[in-house]
Amino acid sequence: MTTVIKGGTIVTADLTYKADVKIDGGRIVEIGPNLSGDETLDATGCYVMPGGIDPHVHLEMPFMGTYSSDDFESGTRAGLAGGTTMVVDFCLPSPGQSLLEALQMWDNKSTRANADYSFHMAITWWGEQVFDEMEIVVKEKGINTFKHFMAYKGALMVDDDEMFSSFQRCAALGALPLVHAENGDVVAQMQAKLLAEGNNGPEAHAYSRPAELEGEATNRAIIIANAVGAPLYVVHTSCEQAHEAIRRARQNGMRVYGEPLIQHLTLDDSEYANPDWDHAARRVMSPPFRNKLHQDSLWAGLQSGSLQVVATDHCAFTTAQKRTGVGDFTKIPNGTGGLEDRMPMLWTYGVATGRITMNEFVAVTSTNIAKILNIYPRKGAILVGADADIVVWDPKRSKTISAASQQSAIDYNVFEGKAVTGLPRYTLTRGHVAIEETTIKTREGHGQFIAREPFPAVSSALTKWKEVTAPRKVQRSGIPASGV
Ligand code: URP
Ligand code: ZN
Ligand code: ZN
Ligand code: ZN
Repeated sequence: MTTVIKGGTIVTADLTYKADVKIDGGRIVEIGPNLSGDETLDATGCYVMPGGIDPHVHLEMPFMGTYSSDDFESGTRAGLAGGTTMVVDFCLPSPGQSLLEALQMWDNKSTRANADYSFHMAITWWGEQVFDEMEIVVKEKGINTFKHFMAYKGALMVDDDEMFSSFQRCAALGALPLVHAENGDVVAQMQAKLLAEGNNGPEAHAYSRPAELEGEATNRAIIIANAVGAPLYVVHTSCEQAHEAIRRARQNGMRVYGEPLIQHLTLDDSEYANPDWDHAARRVMSPPFRNKLHQDSLWAGLQSGSLQVVATDHCAFTTAQKRTGVGDFTKIPNGTGGLEDRMPMLWTYGVATGRITMNEFVAVTSTNIAKILNIYPRKGAILVGADADIVVWDPKRSKTISAASQQSAIDYNVFEGKAVTGLPRYTLTRGHVAIEETTIKTREGHGQFIAREPFPAVSSALTKWKEVTAPRKVQRSGIPASGV
């Protein structure tokens, strides 16, 4: 059966034009005027764009003594409702655990996904087994990205020598290292000091993670990546200090990418001053929300191209889960939701305000990350042969964001009460119409794992440059006698 999306304007990262799109077997088979098929989707007045890709989500994630509440079913359903057709989750081996064993656990969790997905592999410890398994992960398991937590001391955190070893291995395998950049040692000390002083509310979470600690760690990761000749992707870049380090590195020719979150772009640290404990705790995430100056810096990064991707870090905990941290902010599970709201919020606060263009919107929600993850143009494109992961975007549809009507499993929404204009009329996942305005037609288990090949081009260029500029012993003809 063929489907034709008719009467819309195609908007991609680099083009805007009127054409119909014909879909067969889950792929785009034709683009042009006056197409017809078995089924027609009316796109009059709409923009036909590549579905969103959220490269940073944690579905059913074991973390801080609990599990994040959205699983692959509700998480991908939330994504589709907001125009996101693919997510990338993080496989997290426990320290000492085999990467392959952990991957088996993540494979089991993801079978109910409604939309396509992929995994990043986290490096949470270092040893010969990890070194060896990284090659299998890249060459046999379709994963070309490795995540490193520079925070969460005593849990997921790795230190500089572990990162140096792992980044080196990534470079050799043509894989991309990712970092959560915060100085975890200093955060741990600041948490202990604040608690000892009786500062135990959710606002102290933000006090314990100042922007300088993110800037320092971002810069440190960049220096380590450069030392081994690896590219680097910095997740949840939340502040000017981190953005400054990324900007400078890029200006110096390094392949460094930065990923602000929709939460950091649109919500600020005044949320933690709310007298309602639940309100503040529901917004506890790492890095924390920052002030307006940092937000302006992130928007400027998207505008100028020094930051490339807008994600959510969707990691949803219920109010009851958050309350584990009453009396001790370090026990509040870290994480916020956003999968359903990323695209409408970015359209409303980015495109509708004139901060970014429609084409830039497509670039930062889909195309840029598809290129970075090496899945372009199968994903992130409206091209013949590409997967029919498409959002038919109605720029006139509006709603007020509310937990009462959301797909996510949790009992609140950090964007509660925000009025958004710009919503999907249809969201298609490999040709299946999963969303028709407010009607949910998702198919549990429809989502497939998307394998990603390594990046031979970037890593061989960086490796070649490393060889060209490597230290070399000076060969001398006359060597003086040693000693006295
Ligand atoms: O607070 C956050 N961001 N929770 C999810 C885990 C992480 O650090 O990305
Ligand atoms: Zn060490
Ligand atoms: Zn993180
Ligand atoms: Zn995360």
